[in-house]
Amino acid sequence: MLSQLAAVVLGLAAVVAAAPAQEVTSSLSPRAFNCNNPVTGLNKGDCEYLSRIGFAGMGSNPTNSDSRIWIGNNGPNIFTFTNRASVDIVLVLWDSSNGYASSFVTAHAPKLTYSIPRGSSINVSLANGVTGAYSAIYDRTTVISPNGQVFNTWGEFTTGNHATIDISRLINMGGNSFSARVSTGCVADNSRCAYICKWGKNTCWESGTYDLIGCIDQKNNNAWYGANPEGGCAGWDSGSGRISAEFY
Ligand SMILES: *[C@@H]1O[C@H](CO)[C@@H](O)[C@H](O)[C@H]1NC(C)=O
Repeated sequence: MLSQLAAVVLGLAAVVAAAPAQEVTSSLSPRAFNCNNPVTGLNKGDCEYLSRIGFAGMGSNPTNSDSRIWIGNNGPNIFTFTNRASVDIVLVLWDSSNGYASSFVTAHAPKLTYSIPRGSSINVSLANGVTGAYSAIYDRTTVISPNGQVFNTWGEFTTGNHATIDISRLINMGGNSFSARVSTGCVADNSRCAYICKWGKNTCWESGTYDLIGCIDQKNNNAWYGANPEGGCAGWDSGSGRISAEFY
């Protein structure tokens, strides 16, 4: 059971990167979208940057608990995203509603695109049974990978039964430092419960080309590690823990 769920979580980083050539080609044509009236939570300058670098659209940033993911702290699972970097950022968060293609932000608008000034935080609520991932645009300089994904560090999660969160550096080993701390005592960051590429590669996805580091050492802290490898921070099944997700 854990293995299956982990494969889904890891899949967001590992499998999407190996999307068919057709998807990659179509995702390369930038389609600028209009930023005269950005969604609440996204400032105009950030909207224009996302449009310019090829995002398919801005997020819907819902605040209604009918959504599976929404801005607010009234859900069963709550992530507090805090910008501890020295620059302003945009949180980009997507779910798996378009399967493995969901992470290709040039093909599918993410669920959330939310401006977080330095020193600020927002609360995001999630229903149980949501699989997704997030990344961040720093100071309007983070770019999109040639495949159409946010070229930075990612956090990957599944909520509900066997909830798990990890940090993936497989898209860009040179990305910014993220951490995701579970209130019950497990930390994923760039060196703990983190997927990294082997052999000094900057980007990787094929089986055998990556490792999961810093999870074995946290064994008594709800971290888990399995074959292939797979794993991450548990200890927050069905809303039994909160996540502090920080950007450095
Ligand atoms: C996030 O939730 C926590 C705990 O409920 C609360 O203390 C904090 O003020 C909230 N932050 C925002 C930005 O709403």
